[in-house]
Amino acid sequence: MGNPAGAAQAESAAGPRLNEDVDWDLFDSAAYFAHNYSTLRPDDGEIIRIVADFFEQQKQQWPDTWRPKAIDVGAGANLYPALTMLPFTGEITLYERASSNRAWLTEQMEQEDGPSPTWKQFWAEMIRGRSAYQTINDPLNLLTRRARVVKGSVYGLQPEQYDIGTMFFVAESITTRDDEFERATRMFVNSLRAHAPFAAAFMKNSSGYRVGENTFPACSVDENDILRALSGVARDVTINPVESNDLRDGYGGMIVVTGRKKM
Ligand SMILES: C[S@@+](CC[C@H](N)C(=O)[O-])C[C@H]1O[C@@H](n2cnc3c(N)ncnc32)[C@H](O)[C@@H]1O
Repeated sequence: MGNPAGAAQAESAAGPRLNEDVDWDLFDSAAYFAHNYSTLRPDDGEIIRIVADFFEQQKQQWPDTWRPKAIDVGAGANLYPALTMLPFTGEITLYERASSNRAWLTEQMEQEDGPSPTWKQFWAEMIRGRSAYQTINDPLNLLTRRARVVKGSVYGLQPEQYDIGTMFFVAESITTRDDEFERATRMFVNSLRAHAPFAAAFMKNSSGYRVGENTFPACSVDENDILRALSGVARDVTINPVESNDLRDGYGGMIVVTGRKKM
């Protein structure tokens, strides 16, 4: 895998951490949101441009009346992957293992004033020159009507359930183990129906991360590792490196991938 020395260091310091080893309910959603998404960063802006262009282009091949079922896997305290799918879906599943993040997502959906106005900055990037997004007047209100928060693990996803999907910073950020990274990536894509478009984002060469008072594991991956994980399940795969170096220590940029589920 990419940066094997970094990965070995992460494992020798604390030992390998399987997804099951971690108490995900300790994930501090408010701290994560404040650090990552309280304002729109240039790296997220770049990811939005790539993903929104891709989904808008895919839409041209769908009948206008079709309202695909969408999933965002490991949604965490982030609503922007779901927003990138909003113009193209009838319902969006925000799928999340941690009870803290499910509570945060539910509060965003149910609070009287709607989701945090911060997300308007992210939406502003999506509507720039993209007619599919421009047709929506009140995206945060529409999101609250279309989205539902669902408890679940990426490793428990059933095949061929959804028509469009996103998974941002999950497969490589929930385990130190290469095999678990690969399985999470494959199970995400396999949860989609044949030809379904997807977008996935990854931290490159990550050595783990801190959220609030707790540290969480990561698997150090690069473009080749991602391509290998996707090779049996995806087609039309495009890998886009995204420059990023000031979010935190211990990573080497971001990678965003678009593609479609294989037959
Ligand atoms: C680094 S965060 C990414 C959150 C969000 N998608 C984003 O873009 O910022 C990793 C997320 O994966 C979730 N997670 C951990 N194990 C999981 C599993 N087995 N299945 C689904 N999600 C999981 C965590 O609770 C957390 O929300």
